[in-house]
Amino acid sequence: MRKLACLISSLFLFVVGAYAQTVQAPKKSLYERLGGEAAISAVVDDFAQRVLADPRINQKFAKSNAPRLLYFLKQQICAATGGPCKYQGRDMKTAHKNMGITNGEFNALVEDLVATLNKFNVPKPEQDELLAILAPMRSQMVEVQSDATGTPLPANFKPAPPLPEKKIKEGPFPKKKGSMKSAKRR
Ligand code: HEM
Repeated sequence: MRKLACLISSLFLFVVGAYAQTVQAPKKSLYERLGGEAAISAVVDDFAQRVLADPRINQKFAKSNAPRLLYFLKQQICAATGGPCKYQGRDMKTAHKNMGITNGEFNALVEDLVATLNKFNVPKPEQDELLAILAPMRSQMVEVQSDATGTPLPANFKPAPPLPEKKIKEGPFPKKKGSMKSAKRR
Protein backbone atom coordinates (compact mmCIF):
# COMPACT_ATOMS: atom_id res chain seq x y z
CA MET A 1 0.00 0.00 0.00
CA ARG A 2 2.79 2.41 0.96
CA LYS A 3 4.57 1.55 -2.27
CA LEU A 4 1.47 2.45 -4.27
CA ALA A 5 1.10 5.80 -2.45
CA CYS A 6 4.76 6.52 -3.14
CA LEU A 7 4.34 5.65 -6.82
CA ILE A 8 1.25 7.86 -7.16
CA SER A 9 2.93 10.86 -5.51
CA SER A 10 6.04 10.45 -7.71
CA LEU A 11 3.83 10.31 -10.76
CA PHE A 12 1.98 13.43 -9.59
CA LEU A 13 5.25 15.33 -9.09
CA PHE A 14 6.46 14.27 -12.55
CA VAL A 15 3.26 15.48 -14.24
CA VAL A 16 3.29 18.81 -12.35
CA GLY A 17 6.99 19.32 -13.22
CA ALA A 18 6.43 18.60 -16.91
CA TYR A 19 3.45 20.99 -16.97
CA ALA A 20 5.42 23.77 -15.29
CA GLN A 21 8.13 23.44 -17.94
CA THR A 22 5.69 23.85 -20.82
CA VAL A 23 3.75 26.81 -19.35
CA GLN A 24 6.20 29.72 -19.50
CA ALA A 25 5.70 33.23 -18.21
CA PRO A 26 4.58 35.66 -20.97
CA LYS A 27 7.53 37.34 -22.73
CA LYS A 28 8.29 40.84 -21.47
CA SER A 29 7.99 43.74 -23.94
CA LEU A 30 11.17 45.00 -25.62
CA TYR A 31 10.66 48.23 -23.64
CA GLU A 32 10.90 46.28 -20.37
CA ARG A 33 13.81 44.13 -21.56
CA LEU A 34 15.75 47.26 -22.57
CA GLY A 35 15.33 48.54 -19.03
CA GLY A 36 12.35 50.90 -19.37
CA GLU A 37 12.30 54.67 -19.13
CA ALA A 38 15.67 55.27 -17.44
CA ALA A 39 17.61 52.98 -19.77
CA ILE A 40 15.96 54.27 -22.96
CA SER A 41 16.56 57.85 -21.87
CA ALA A 42 20.25 57.17 -21.18
CA VAL A 43 20.69 55.27 -24.46
CA VAL A 44 19.14 58.09 -26.52
CA ASP A 45 21.29 60.74 -24.76
CA ASP A 46 24.48 58.79 -25.50
CA PHE A 47 23.37 58.07 -29.07
CA ALA A 48 22.65 61.78 -29.70
CA GLN A 49 26.12 62.77 -28.47
CA ARG A 50 27.66 60.18 -30.77
CA VAL A 51 25.64 61.43 -33.75
CA LEU A 52 26.54 65.07 -33.09
CA ALA A 53 30.24 64.13 -32.97
CA ASP A 54 30.06 62.05 -36.17
CA PRO A 55 31.25 64.07 -39.21
CA ARG A 56 29.51 61.57 -41.51
CA ILE A 57 26.11 62.93 -40.41
CA ASN A 58 26.35 65.85 -38.00
CA GLN A 59 25.86 68.57 -40.64
CA LYS A 60 22.25 67.45 -40.96
CA PHE A 61 21.56 68.53 -37.36
CA ALA A 62 23.04 72.05 -37.64
CA LYS A 63 19.70 73.93 -37.70
CA SER A 64 17.66 71.66 -35.45
CA ASN A 65 16.48 72.03 -31.88
CA ALA A 66 18.19 69.35 -29.77
CA PRO A 67 15.73 69.18 -26.81
CA ARG A 68 12.83 68.64 -29.24
CA LEU A 69 14.69 65.90 -31.11
CA LEU A 70 15.65 64.07 -27.90
CA TYR A 71 12.09 64.37 -26.59
CA PHE A 72 10.50 62.79 -29.67
CA LEU A 73 13.21 60.18 -30.18
CA LYS A 74 12.73 58.90 -26.61
CA GLN A 75 8.96 58.97 -26.96
CA GLN A 76 9.09 57.18 -30.32
CA ILE A 77 11.38 54.39 -29.05
CA CYS A 78 9.28 54.00 -25.89
CA ALA A 79 6.09 53.65 -27.99
CA ALA A 80 7.61 51.42 -30.70
CA THR A 81 9.04 48.94 -28.18
CA GLY A 82 5.74 48.43 -26.35
CA GLY A 83 6.23 51.02 -23.59
CA PRO A 84 3.55 53.25 -22.07
CA CYS A 85 4.14 56.23 -24.46
CA LYS A 86 2.16 57.57 -27.37
CA TYR A 87 4.38 59.11 -30.09
CA GLN A 88 3.21 62.68 -30.69
CA GLY A 89 5.87 63.93 -33.11
CA ARG A 90 5.66 64.29 -36.87
CA ASP A 91 5.65 61.32 -39.23
CA MET A 92 9.13 60.29 -40.40
CA LYS A 93 8.74 61.47 -44.01
CA THR A 94 7.70 64.99 -42.98
CA ALA A 95 10.33 65.22 -40.21
CA HIS A 96 13.20 64.35 -42.60
CA LYS A 97 11.93 66.24 -45.66
CA ASN A 98 14.53 68.22 -47.66
CA MET A 99 17.44 66.96 -45.54
CA GLY A 100 18.96 65.13 -48.50
CA ILE A 101 19.74 62.07 -46.36
CA THR A 102 21.67 59.38 -48.27
CA ASN A 103 21.64 55.63 -47.74
CA GLY A 104 25.22 55.91 -46.48
CA GLU A 105 24.17 58.49 -43.89
CA PHE A 106 21.29 56.33 -42.70
CA ASN A 107 23.77 53.43 -42.28
CA ALA A 108 26.15 55.72 -40.35
CA LEU A 109 23.38 56.65 -37.91
CA VAL A 110 22.54 52.95 -37.40
CA GLU A 111 26.25 52.26 -36.72
CA ASP A 112 26.25 54.99 -34.07
CA LEU A 113 23.17 53.44 -32.48
CA VAL A 114 24.79 49.98 -32.40
CA ALA A 115 27.92 51.48 -30.77
CA THR A 116 25.70 52.96 -28.04
CA LEU A 117 23.77 49.71 -27.55
CA ASN A 118 27.09 47.86 -27.17
CA LYS A 119 28.32 50.42 -24.66
CA PHE A 120 25.18 49.77 -22.58
CA ASN A 121 25.65 45.98 -22.92
CA VAL A 122 22.27 45.53 -24.60
CA PRO A 123 22.14 41.82 -25.57
CA LYS A 124 22.22 40.92 -29.28
CA PRO A 125 18.59 39.63 -29.49
CA GLU A 126 17.26 42.94 -28.09
CA GLN A 127 19.57 44.95 -30.41
CA ASP A 128 18.28 42.98 -33.40
CA GLU A 129 14.67 43.47 -32.32
CA LEU A 130 15.15 47.24 -32.04
CA LEU A 131 16.95 47.48 -35.39
CA ALA A 132 14.17 45.44 -37.03
CA ILE A 133 11.66 48.05 -35.81
CA LEU A 134 13.75 50.95 -37.19
CA ALA A 135 14.91 49.40 -40.49
CA PRO A 136 11.56 49.70 -42.34
CA MET A 137 11.63 53.50 -41.70
CA ARG A 138 14.66 53.87 -44.01
CA SER A 139 12.62 54.60 -47.15
CA GLN A 140 10.79 57.44 -45.36
CA MET A 141 14.05 59.26 -44.56
CA VAL A 142 16.47 58.51 -47.38
CA GLU A 143 16.02 61.00 -50.22
CA VAL A 144 19.28 60.32 -52.09
CA GLN A 145 20.20 56.81 -53.24
CA SER A 146 23.94 57.05 -52.66
CA ASP A 147 26.55 55.61 -50.30
CA ALA A 148 28.04 59.08 -49.74
CA THR A 149 28.29 60.45 -46.20
CA GLY A 150 28.98 63.95 -44.87
CA THR A 151 26.76 65.58 -47.49
CA PRO A 152 25.66 69.14 -46.63
CA LEU A 153 22.22 70.11 -45.34
CA PRO A 154 20.28 71.59 -48.30
CA ALA A 155 19.40 75.29 -47.95
CA ASN A 156 15.67 74.60 -48.35
CA PHE A 157 15.49 72.45 -45.18
CA LYS A 158 13.21 74.07 -42.59
CA PRO A 159 13.66 72.84 -38.99
CA ALA A 160 10.66 72.28 -36.70
CA PRO A 161 10.11 74.88 -33.93
CA PRO A 162 11.27 74.16 -30.35
CA LEU A 163 8.73 72.63 -27.97
CA PRO A 164 7.34 74.72 -25.08
CA GLU A 165 9.62 74.69 -22.02
CA LYS A 166 6.83 73.13 -19.91
CA LYS A 167 6.53 70.14 -22.23
CA ILE A 168 10.29 69.56 -22.23
CA LYS A 169 10.29 69.73 -18.41
CA GLU A 170 7.47 67.17 -18.13
CA GLY A 171 9.42 64.84 -20.40
CA PRO A 172 8.39 62.35 -23.09
CA PHE A 173 7.30 59.55 -20.73
CA PRO A 174 3.88 59.43 -19.04
CA LYS A 175 3.91 60.35 -15.36
CA LYS A 176 3.84 57.40 -12.99
CA LYS A 177 0.79 57.38 -10.69
CA GLY A 178 1.58 58.69 -7.22
CA SER A 179 4.73 60.56 -8.31
CA MET A 180 5.28 64.14 -7.12
CA LYS A 181 4.86 65.45 -10.67
CA SER A 182 1.53 63.67 -11.24
CA ALA A 183 0.24 64.83 -7.83
CA LYS A 184 1.08 68.47 -8.65
CA ARG A 185 -0.83 68.25 -11.93
CA ARG A 186 -4.07 67.12 -10.25
C1 HEM B 1 15.66 54.95 -37.95
C2 HEM B 1 16.28 56.10 -38.00
C3 HEM B 1 15.70 57.40 -37.49
C4 HEM B 1 14.72 57.63 -36.58
C5 HEM B 1 13.94 56.61 -35.77
C6 HEM B 1 14.56 59.06 -36.48
C7 HEM B 1 13.65 59.67 -35.66
C8 HEM B 1 13.42 61.05 -35.62
C9 HEM B 1 12.42 61.71 -34.83
C10 HEM B 1 11.44 61.02 -33.89
C11 HEM B 1 12.52 63.03 -35.06
C12 HEM B 1 11.68 64.17 -34.42
C13 HEM B 1 10.42 64.46 -35.22
C14 HEM B 1 9.79 65.78 -34.86
O1 HEM B 1 10.50 66.76 -34.60
O2 HEM B 1 8.54 65.89 -34.92
C15 HEM B 1 13.62 63.22 -35.97
C16 HEM B 1 14.09 64.43 -36.41
C17 HEM B 1 15.29 64.60 -37.05
N1 HEM B 1 16.07 63.62 -37.60
FE1 HEM B 1 15.71 61.64 -37.53
N2 HEM B 1 15.44 59.67 -37.33
C18 HEM B 1 16.17 58.69 -37.97
C19 HEM B 1 17.14 58.88 -38.90
C20 HEM B 1 17.76 60.07 -39.17
C21 HEM B 1 18.93 60.26 -40.00
C22 HEM B 1 19.64 59.13 -40.76
C23 HEM B 1 19.25 61.58 -39.93
C24 HEM B 1 20.40 62.33 -40.57
C25 HEM B 1 21.53 61.79 -40.92
C26 HEM B 1 18.26 62.23 -39.10
C27 HEM B 1 18.23 63.55 -38.80
C28 HEM B 1 17.20 64.20 -38.13
C29 HEM B 1 17.16 65.64 -37.90
C30 HEM B 1 18.21 66.67 -38.31
C31 HEM B 1 15.95 65.89 -37.24
C32 HEM B 1 15.41 67.27 -36.77
C33 HEM B 1 14.41 67.79 -37.79
C34 HEM B 1 13.95 69.22 -37.54
O3 HEM B 1 14.70 69.97 -36.92
O4 HEM B 1 12.86 69.59 -38.03
N3 HEM B 1 17.38 61.28 -38.66
N4 HEM B 1 14.15 62.00 -36.31
